Amino acid sequence: MSRLIVVSNRTPGKGPAAGGLAVALRKTLSERDGFWFGWSGKLADEPSQTAQFEDIDGLTIAHIDLTRSDHHAYYAGFSNSILWPSFHLRLDLATIEGHWYEGYRAVNQQFARALLPLLQPDDVIWVHDYHLIPLANELRSLGARNRIGFYLHIPFPTTDALYAIPHHNELMRDLSRYDLVGLQANRDVAAFTEFADHQSPSSLSGSPLRSVDFTRSETSAFPIGSDPEAFARLAVTPAATKMVHRVQRNLREQKLILGVDRLDYSKGLPQRIEAYEKLLANDPRFRRNVHMMQVAPPSRDTIKEYQETSDALDAVCGRVMGRFSEPDWQPLTYVKRAYGQPSLAGLYRLAKVGLVTPLRDGMNLVAHEFVASQDPADPGVLILSRFAGAAEIFPEAIQVNPFDTDETSEALRMALDMPLDERITRWTALMAAARRHSVDNWASSFLERLVPDTSGQSSASRDMLYLASTG
Ligand code: G6P
Repeated sequence: MSRLIVVSNRTPGKGPAAGGLAVALRKTLSERDGFWFGWSGKLADEPSQTAQFEDIDGLTIAHIDLTRSDHHAYYAGFSNSILWPSFHLRLDLATIEGHWYEGYRAVNQQFARALLPLLQPDDVIWVHDYHLIPLANELRSLGARNRIGFYLHIPFPTTDALYAIPHHNELMRDLSRYDLVGLQANRDVAAFTEFADHQSPSSLSGSPLRSVDFTRSETSAFPIGSDPEAFARLAVTPAATKMVHRVQRNLREQKLILGVDRLDYSKGLPQRIEAYEKLLANDPRFRRNVHMMQVAPPSRDTIKEYQETSDALDAVCGRVMGRFSEPDWQPLTYVKRAYGQPSLAGLYRLAKVGLVTPLRDGMNLVAHEFVASQDPADPGVLILSRFAGAAEIFPEAIQVNPFDTDETSEALRMALDMPLDERITRWTALMAAARRHSVDNWASSFLERLVPDTSGQSSASRDMLYLASTG
């Protein structure tokens, strides 16, 4: 089997992972030959020309250092102040500074130059996320002929939002240099196809013209998942149970409502706390009988919009505490730090309600992990934003519009009052979906499509697929 080279900005580290990407890919790579290539997390005076190899928990990781100025333009600038907000349809929070594009391109070129000498001709390269859209193009211009796939972990933007991004046409051309572009959900494929159709053949000159030619690249939805069996086991380990006992001591009979998110404006955190505030205001029987815990590890906190989101969340949490706390009861615990998977699995299992209400999200693996961690005999209820990619595969969750805090508040009431038989029926269907969409199935279906030899597809059937996705 050919080696697999995974490339992403952030590689798995030793501490608890704040995002889903590292968690998802660790397992896939640990089962194949190859290595993971990415940024070391270090800033140096000069950009590294060559990668340093390291073994982290049995995974081979190749790292390069970036310069401070390149990193700023590439990561905080183009990736997280332009692409992230635009792809999440938050143009109001984007800072459009076109010159960041040069740093973004320079880092992608640096990745390509350092990766190329490490490649063997039949290596399969799998590039992850919006930081590295140009990488295949940069590798190909240096002569790489490998199969290269790209997976976007965040939503694909509508055509309007895409047009707000400087150099969007070059980025789309970069995407067309991948053999396979994987997106999270059908709604993302629809947005991608709309862009492709918008700029598809013009008949003005009499011969078809495309500004970007997608005919050699396939695009499809590959919804990512978690490792549900591993989470189910983890949720009853001593490490998870320790966390359960710690929290249970304070909770006593109160029902736990739980949110776990990176502290990001796309997660709808202030709206979520407001919905909880409405529940307590409108239905006093819940006071003293419920407790909400929001775990929100800080993220990208050099960026002004993230600091403002953090301040907004502080303010709304403070307001709810002041309004409803009593000397012997607090409505809310707000924890601004990351926890390891065992502790999270314990918290998920303890929670009666998992509140997953992003304003827009690629998939949202917290929804998957919450489902997987439940006690089958007494499962909690998942409340899920209809704007998370996970909504397409979890119709049995209580789905809400997270902008409508009345609706989310009513969903909370329903979830807290839901009888055991309905909880079991919904959870059984959710768990079956989490199993169908496990991270193993995700990785193998992407890789089988990327590498025809392992999928057993003939070139004729691959041509059919090209036609189906670009036509
Ligand atoms: C999301 C992105 C990942 C990213 C993670 C954490 O899940 O899709 O690519 O690694 O957030 O964000 P950070 O900026 O800390 O890497």
